[in-house]
Amino acid sequence: MPHSQQTDIVPITMPDPSQAPDHGTVPLASPAAAALHSPLEVAIIVPTLNEAANVEHLVDRLNHVLHGRAWELIFVDDNSPDGTSDIVRRLGTQQRHIRVIQRVGRRGLSSAVIEGVLASAAPIIAVMDGDMQHSEDALPQLIDAVASGQGDIAIGTRYIDGGGTGDWDEKRVWMSKLATRAGQVALGTNVSDPMSGFFALRRDAFERALPRLSAIGYKILIDILASSPTPLRVAEIPYVFRSREAGESKIGARVIAEYAELIADKTVGRYIPIRLLKFLMVGGLGVIVHLAILRSLLGFGLEFMGAQTGAVLTAIAFNFFLNNSFTYADRKLRGAALLGGLISFYAISSIGAVANIGIGTWVAGQQNVWWVAGIAGVLVGAIWNFAMSAAITWRK
Ligand code: GDD
Ligand code: MN
Repeated sequence: MPHSQQTDIVPITMPDPSQAPDHGTVPLASPAAAALHSPLEVAIIVPTLNEAANVEHLVDRLNHVLHGRAWELIFVDDNSPDGTSDIVRRLGTQQRHIRVIQRVGRRGLSSAVIEGVLASAAPIIAVMDGDMQHSEDALPQLIDAVASGQGDIAIGTRYIDGGGTGDWDEKRVWMSKLATRAGQVALGTNVSDPMSGFFALRRDAFERALPRLSAIGYKILIDILASSPTPLRVAEIPYVFRSREAGESKIGARVIAEYAELIADKTVGRYIPIRLLKFLMVGGLGVIVHLAILRSLLGFGLEFMGAQTGAVLTAIAFNFFLNNSFTYADRKLRGAALLGGLISFYAISSIGAVANIGIGTWVAGQQNVWWVAGIAGVLVGAIWNFAMSAAITWRK
């Protein structure tokens, strides 16, 4: 007999409305209750990485300064090992205006902020750090400046009267000034604190910038300002950057490198992809390595062909490893994949070299400027190497 599974189906009958108890209407007595029923005004987006020691304090402070508003609080946490997401979820069960987007296998302050904004429907968005360094007292002013139309965006700034960097040491102040100046010059903006991560803006202003955002690294404000198709009207609100009481800053060499990359992407990146630029830079260094090896092998008494072969093989390996950790830092090959990558890179580069020689020779036959032929060969070879290694060696 075939095995059959029987499910018990329980019939549900509709309750008789005339028998239902009357709960009456809930009076909108307190401002909090009123805020709960009025349309959403603002979303606060807070990117976090290991801020378990700070989130509860931040929530307390925000509940205080935003009391009476219709707001929501969205943490975007990159799967912090210290359990930041769990803490926010626990708070969220009691306070329904709070939630967390827990991202797994991804990293980056800017991309976290973007995802947070996209998860909200609020007409005004505010962004702030989760480590209590941004003084939340300035938050209502930022929101109001946008709500009242004083600006499309309102930026919490350390560099106008009333603002400050608190107890930063001289080196950090100097570094920040340098980076700020670089940002201002590169983007042609006179915003006094384009490095700020504390700002509010209209949602539609964000949405217009969205398709062009680079989403690289730490500085989402610069990204938004530079990606906006029409210049945003900016209001500046001073605040004093607090020192960190709990947890650790994530600033380091990588943050600085990503900043440089963001600036590059926002300037030359409009004309040439940053990855190609990096690849060509590595290639340029490879030429220097090639010549240095060639010279020393000749110095050891090798005949030219042997020395040239040694120099080519070394330069290709050099290019491979540098591209792997610099150009493709985000897709870095390791272990067995590293060896496979090296082999494919050698194969691609050999074909590239043949193309280089072939094209160069052909161009030389068309006209008689030797360096034009040389450069034509190098460019075709480099583009070939770039395209093929992107598709094979460092494929996604
Ligand atoms: N989701 C996510 N992913 N959050 C991150 C990441 C990340 O990869 N890296 C940092 N954060 C979070 C931190 O947890 C913190 O809430 C906030 O982003 C800022 O990080 P910090 O490491 O505290 O940065 P900071 O104080 O050195 O730098 C800040 O400098 C500016 C002023 O120059 C910036 O982050 C700006 O927001 C700030 O205004
Ligand atoms: Mn901080």
